[in-house]
Amino acid sequence: MPNFWNTLKNPSFMLAPMEDVTDTVFREIVLRLSQADNLQVLYTEFTNTDGLCHPIGREKVKSRLMVNQSERELLKSKDVKLVAQIWGNNPEKFYEATKYIDSHFEFDGIDINMGCPVKKVVKQGSCSALIKFPELAGEIIQATKQATQLPVSVKTRTGFTKHITEEWISFLLTQDPAAIILHTRTQKMQTDFPAEWEEMGKALEIRNECKPHIPIIGNGDIFSMNEALKMHAQFPADGFMIGRGIFHNPWFFNPNYRATIEEKLNTLLLHSRLYAQTWGQDRNFQVLKRFFKIYINDFEGAAALRANLMESNTLEEVENCISQFKK
Ligand SMILES: Cc1cc2nc3c(=O)[nH]c(=O)nc-3n(C[C@H](O)[C@H](O)[C@H](O)COP(=O)(O)O)c2cc1C
Repeated sequence: MPNFWNTLKNPSFMLAPMEDVTDTVFREIVLRLSQADNLQVLYTEFTNTDGLCHPIGREKVKSRLMVNQSERELLKSKDVKLVAQIWGNNPEKFYEATKYIDSHFEFDGIDINMGCPVKKVVKQGSCSALIKFPELAGEIIQATKQATQLPVSVKTRTGFTKHITEEWISFLLTQDPAAIILHTRTQKMQTDFPAEWEEMGKALEIRNECKPHIPIIGNGDIFSMNEALKMHAQFPADGFMIGRGIFHNPWFFNPNYRATIEEKLNTLLLHSRLYAQTWGQDRNFQVLKRFFKIYINDFEGAAALRANLMESNTLEEVENCISQFKK
């Protein structure tokens, strides 16, 4: 199985995994709005390995790994890779969950979440808490690698309470992941403090010394392609992963494009229709509402339209709001 991480352009660009955001529907929208060659990798939402290993739990979590046919076609035509992200704290569950993903889905890679700072997961010793337990983290990486031929990457932070970038990255490199995605904050920093990209400089230095072939992708506070390129000049990470930047501009990966009001309205409509078609009543409509402000901004009447849209609870109501506005 080819390791796509070593075939990406440098720097490469990717959309970060985000719970309740990067489902198959939003990924399809981002794919449609992106310019060829400006987006290389997409991620699923993080999916729990315990859930995937249990027949009832699996039914609850597997929607996170769903890929619509329409997304699949765009991935192929735009040559964008799709990575499934998983999390947990038990190497055996990682092995079993990865086997399950491998035999039931069609992903280009598996990513292990060693970065989520949320209390609920940290308490279980999962995600960013694994930074405190390198031995267990190593067992998890090895168990996942044994279960699949797909490239296995790790998305992590620079430390738990304080930066231990050199120590942690040196350790991760001994485990030979296919790539490391480094969010340049500690768990303690959550997203309340600015990302500290000097830590990326330290990580790259160590990588260059001992495992120059393992790509390191930077993540944290990148809000435009230009910012990424400036950062690259200072800290030449192999790629940049964009999280909240996509909320500021859904056309992020098509940096010179200025969407018209008509295009913004039509993109919101397309997103809402795809959402209803894909999830029906299965997913809360409130989750869709979080996307309204990313399209409906920066034009006359946007605030009033947004307020109307926020009152809607069905696709039909969204469609009515938009058609009223267009009149
Ligand atoms: C709403 C939301 C959900 C997130 N869910 C995940 C997730 O499922 N897995 C993960 O590794 N990180 C998750 N993150 C963290 C992002 O992937 C990213 O590391 C973080 O937002 C920092 O990047 P940014 O400054 O570009 O936003 C989430 C972030 C947000 C804002």
